[in-house]
Amino acid sequence: MSNKAMKININGQSFTVDADPNMPLLWALRDMLQLTGTKYGCGAGLCGACTIHVDGEPARACLTSLKQVADKAVTTIEGLEFEQLKQAWAQHNVPQCGFCQAGQLMSAAALLAKHPKPADAQIDEAMSGNICRCGTYTRIKSAIKATTGGYQASHSAAASMEVEA
Ligand code: FES
Ligand code: FES
Repeated sequence: MSNKAMKININGQSFTVDADPNMPLLWALRDMLQLTGTKYGCGAGLCGACTIHVDGEPARACLTSLKQVADKAVTTIEGLEFEQLKQAWAQHNVPQCGFCQAGQLMSAAALLAKHPKPADAQIDEAMSGNICRCGTYTRIKSAIKATTGGYQASHSAAASMEVEA
């Protein structure tokens, strides 16, 4: 382990990542930790495919460095515990090719954590940064509206397991 190794908390687990602290979190998620549910789309903060939560707030993993998430709680699609939203997604047949969907779900969950019953304008604003080349926007909005419960976003850096990468 080099002196660059740092600990990051993802989905309630503490991972030790041996990498440049300036490296985008997305690279670590996908290439070092095999958390490949978070997708690489544009790499420039423009598409939303890489959306995760950092202390409950939506963030773009391609623009978030490892050092920015030290001592913070990161949640990825693998750790998203919001069954009602996932069921609504399935019931409304939202995914088409699926590539953007992890990011869409993470943005929707963050919205519902703040606004359990969001107005159309709030949905439009919260989801505006998530691009879908398959045009599933209408279904996404229907699924969000069909979700009647809020979401408790993770803000705690509970370290239940140590994993080195
Ligand atoms: S890959 Fe991060 S916003 Fe597109
Ligand atoms: S479902 Fe294909 S890009 Fe959104």
